[in-house]
Amino acid sequence: MATLRAMQEFDAIVVGAGAAGLFCAGIAGQRGRRVLVLDHSEKVAEKVRISGGGRANFTNRELDPQAPHKHFLSANPHFCRSALSRYTPADFIDLVQRHGIAFHEKHKGQLFCDRSAEDLIQMLLRECDAGGVQRWQPCSVKALRQGGDGAYELDTDRGPVRGRSVVVATGGLSIPKIGASDFGYRIATQFGLRLVEQRPGLVPLTFDGDAWKPYAGLAGLALPVHIETGEKKGRMAFLEDLLFTHRGLSGPAVLQISSYWREGTPIRLNLAPETGLPAALAHAKATSRKLLVNELAGLVPSRLAEAWVQQDADWQRPVADTSDKALARLAERLSRWDIVPTGTEGYRKAEVTLGGVDTRDLSSQTLESKQPGLYFIGEVVDVTGWLGGYNFQWAWASGHACAQAL
Ligand code: FDA
Repeated sequence: MATLRAMQEFDAIVVGAGAAGLFCAGIAGQRGRRVLVLDHSEKVAEKVRISGGGRANFTNRELDPQAPHKHFLSANPHFCRSALSRYTPADFIDLVQRHGIAFHEKHKGQLFCDRSAEDLIQMLLRECDAGGVQRWQPCSVKALRQGGDGAYELDTDRGPVRGRSVVVATGGLSIPKIGASDFGYRIATQFGLRLVEQRPGLVPLTFDGDAWKPYAGLAGLALPVHIETGEKKGRMAFLEDLLFTHRGLSGPAVLQISSYWREGTPIRLNLAPETGLPAALAHAKATSRKLLVNELAGLVPSRLAEAWVQQDADWQRPVADTSDKALARLAERLSRWDIVPTGTEGYRKAEVTLGGVDTRDLSSQTLESKQPGLYFIGEVVDVTGWLGGYNFQWAWASGHACAQAL
């Protein structure tokens, strides 16, 4: 005989037990709301677990909430200001300290757990427990609709459930093998909300096989570079580390620039940003009897020097016998290396998804959409941070802003 299950009711149902969803649920629960979090994955917060090389770069001290355009991309770069200024890196640091989690600053304001990202996940779960949050996992949502009284009904594989509000915290499309899905975008579309086109961000760039052959042997080489893309007002530049890979370029420099790079356009690299190459090469010519490659190896990593001189017969002789023109050409090629990537490594390797739910259809105060009672937080929204803890800070801040309104 079929059993009739009573429909369970909550004040808020949060779909997605990632960074933003867990954080929002904990706060809303502690504000006295009956909250359910559900996630189709078996484990919570898989991205937190793998983030920052397993140590989670959980925020950034350099974030300036009054100037969010400095570190965030969005069709409306000012949208995130309200949430970011009401829940700041200092607020999150305070929470981390209250939970006794040791952390350290690495580089450019980036804060990491000393021990493991797992500490942060346990903190998020303890905050949920403190708010009496219920958690269903793994649990998929088959359908979501609004009932006549304005509340939402969800058909899940654990039965139907009702919520006065629904918070979509299902993140972006990156790394599908650990649970990423387009759920958030589908729900937005179902309720007539607009989307900003999505593309992979913070992602390695790839190059055409033949064109890349001269550099393929450099895989594994890392060095500081200046990197830029775009023109005039749209120009972006970073001084960061570059990593050569078998298929192209990666490392913080390339991940950062990838969020600004547009298909078909070049990137420009200065492979010796802190060396005055023309003067150093002229000095070597006047004073050295060595091969140019050996002199160059004192100015840039030796593997790079070797690969570079292969490109031009004029560079394969003693530095004293190399013409001024050839030396100038070498300095120019190293400091203004223009290359056009063929593409990116895609969502398989991207740390984030650019684009998402259009902020024109969301309140910057509460993250509620034009569809009353339906909220979007975290990466599913068209707000994307730089590498360096900015994306987690957006997850915390947007989750916090939403939780105040539930
Ligand atoms: P998040 O992806 O965390 O959570 C979404 C949740 O929704 C997941 O648990 C998923 O299973 C669930 N879900 C998806 N579809 C569903 C569906 N249909 N039904 C039910 N549940 C569903 N950022 C940073 O600031 N510092 C860092 O160090 C790093 N490092 C890093 C490394 C790597 C390898 C990646 C891929 C990403 C990072 N990031 C990062 C980015 C950061 O992880 C990301 O921006 C946040 O996790 C986004 O938080 P959200 O809660 O929005 O999504």
